[in-house]
Amino acid sequence: SDEPLVLGIETSCDETGVGIVRGETLLVDAIASSVDEHARFGGVVPEVASRAHLEAMVPTIERACAGAGVRLDDLDAIAVTAGPGLAGALMVGVASAKALALALGKPIYGVNHLAAHVAVDIVEHGPLPEPVLAMLVSGGHSSLLLVPDVTGDVQPLGATIDDAAGEAFDKVARVLGLPFPGGPHIDRAARDGEITIDFPRGLTTGRDLERHRFDFSFSGLKTAVARWVETERRAGRTVPVAEVAASFQEAVVDVLTRKAIRACVEHGVQDMQIGGGVAANSRLRALAQERADAAGIRLRVPRPGLCTDNGAMVAALGAQFVMRGREPSQLSLPADSSMPV
Ligand code: KG4
Ligand code: ZN
Repeated sequence: SDEPLVLGIETSCDETGVGIVRGETLLVDAIASSVDEHARFGGVVPEVASRAHLEAMVPTIERACAGAGVRLDDLDAIAVTAGPGLAGALMVGVASAKALALALGKPIYGVNHLAAHVAVDIVEHGPLPEPVLAMLVSGGHSSLLLVPDVTGDVQPLGATIDDAAGEAFDKVARVLGLPFPGGPHIDRAARDGEITIDFPRGLTTGRDLERHRFDFSFSGLKTAVARWVETERRAGRTVPVAEVAASFQEAVVDVLTRKAIRACVEHGVQDMQIGGGVAANSRLRALAQERADAAGIRLRVPRPGLCTDNGAMVAALGAQFVMRGREPSQLSLPADSSMPV
């Protein structure tokens, strides 16, 4: 095959991901997570994440190669997340990728984590329509991106001004006594609950909307939920977890989908994509589909396993760099924890 065989390494947060693609085809997506080690802290602990990457890296690379039936010698390029993310965690991935590139004599491509979340859909649904409007919602980011070229031109239209969407899910889950990470638990609890509480939708009206057309704010919502729950507890009433979960979730996904669709319409973009861990949310998927259909916008959402952080997304973007003839990175490539898109 003349399609490039690319191995991608992702270590920006708590997942050690190693994926291998051939061109636009996913061969394997190996992952090791330290999420359980962070659970008792209620959030990712950077030092713990870095140490876990260091231990998991080589076994995960070996697992990926075995799963794809390829030898390291067969690779055409190495891709790695260079940022944004946790500095120490990124450094483990970048150092590992450099060691591989140096030893194999193959080019290295340092890629942007957010662009990789967008590129992963190529191995799921085929060539990316460009421009595409990408909504990335995870524990670390909530962004609307206009993407004319996933390998070079990714324009941020808006982002959260406080908590990320996933962070809001995790914090509200904690208030409701659900385990970390809370997103999937809220999603499940909400299925048995009616939407009965009208929680605030941040930055959706008046001056706030004017000034923050495509930005998000979830900290006011999180506080409103915490207050509501506290009031119930003080009054000695049982907190209706399913109803609170459903009402909170609706407030989040209502704002996310409304702003994403508006961004498509205002920028004349016909294709929209959702990525990041929160894209696994069943209500977000349903409402986004409903509103996209109503607006005549095509929607692409990768399967949940490819929405959360993984190595396949890095490999998928790396392969695009190779296929589009982009210059590789230097072997002095730094990790950049606050890399802009
Ligand atoms: O992309 P990801 O795996 O890691 C980063 O944060 O970069 O996203 C994890 C986030 C967590 O906040 C988790 O609670 C949230 O995604 N999440 C969900 C769901 N599944 C994961 N949030 C809402 N509904 C879900 N089904
Ligand atoms: Zn991510």
